[in-house]
Amino acid sequence: MRRLVSTLVVAGTAALGVGCRQGGAHERDSVSRSGSAAAHAWNPSAWRAPTVAELPNDSLGSAVRRGLALVTATADSLPRFAASNLSCTSCHLDEGRRGTAAPLSGVFARYPKYIERTGAVVPIEDRVNYCMTRSLAGSRLPNDSREMQDIVAYLAFMARGVPIGAHLAVEGMPAMPKDAGDTTRGGTVYRDACARCHGADGAGLLKVPALWGPKSFSIGASMARQERAASFIRHNMPFDKPGTLSDREAYDVAAFITAKPRPDLPDKAHDWPLGGAPADVPYDTKGHKAFRPPPLLPRRNAANAVVSAPRPLR
Ligand code: HEC
Ligand code: HEC
Repeated sequence: MRRLVSTLVVAGTAALGVGCRQGGAHERDSVSRSGSAAAHAWNPSAWRAPTVAELPNDSLGSAVRRGLALVTATADSLPRFAASNLSCTSCHLDEGRRGTAAPLSGVFARYPKYIERTGAVVPIEDRVNYCMTRSLAGSRLPNDSREMQDIVAYLAFMARGVPIGAHLAVEGMPAMPKDAGDTTRGGTVYRDACARCHGADGAGLLKVPALWGPKSFSIGASMARQERAASFIRHNMPFDKPGTLSDREAYDVAAFITAKPRPDLPDKAHDWPLGGAPADVPYDTKGHKAFRPPPLLPRRNAANAVVSAPRPLR
């Protein structure tokens, strides 16, 4: 049942436009006034991210295609910047289209955005660099590099037709019921359901990315938080049989993985500068005590692993 509900939500990519009236007199009026305007009206439940095949072979189309290549083969395309063996689409599954895996569709329309972890309004480039430095344990890409702008072009393309500031029903990852996993039970789940692809040592195999160790995501990634990892795993793993684990098994295996060693993130103590860190954040921040902190591996690219909040001119 649970599975069915989430499938329906994903299939609908349904949405509630914040600030967008649905159905009311206002909408009927505009329909009767102009048929062609109505055809182009924002309809969140009908909206789908466009497909790359629809793109013309012009300069912008090429940038979007390069952006897609960068997000699907990140470590191979940006070896100097990506320290892990992950790509963006290791987590943002199906080229960023899967609703339970932090979808990239529609995201561009919500930036610039206030992010509590930063305590500031940030542009989409900074958000991409948070994933570069935290989720890929890599170095930040210069905002004026062609590569960064290609990724931004892909994100803008993936939000075509979404009004600026509009929200979709499917954003981020579904919340999990409050719980805490058991690492011993999680070890058993890992051996039975994960090791055949991610390896007994968690380092990944062939095209399967690492779950811990020097080639994995850093402690500053959302995926290093037990509840966030449990949600991703519950809905998307095992890759060939998603939805087969119970909430309990997902929490247990998430506890097992997030307790393993992984790359550090410099400056992480400055996250949530105004306080209010979620309970499962595994490092100390203002007013927050680390939840089950994992052993940390040294970070070689430390200087370029920090994305500073925008600062006023002096
Ligand atoms: C280890 C998994 C992982 C990897 C790898 C990863 N991300 Fe993310 N990303 C996440 C998670 C988790 C979120 C937060 C979703 C949420 O808000 O709960 C996120 C959020 C984002 C957002 C903001 C989404 C929003 O709704 O505001 C963008 C944009 C993004 N990632 C882009 C990228 C790009 C580009 C790459 C590659 C350079 C990348 N990510 C790599 C896990 C990952
Ligand atoms: C059939 C092979 C397979 C199995 C079994 C599998 N995974 Fe994955 N997993 C993948 C692949 C492949 C990806 C990357 C997806 C992509 O590139 O499209 C992935 C991605 C992930 C990610 C996000 C990226 C990263 O490396 O952190 C996590 C977390 C994860 N898997 C956890 C698990 C857990 C926990 C289990 C066991 C319950 C599991 N997986 C079972 C193949 C598998």
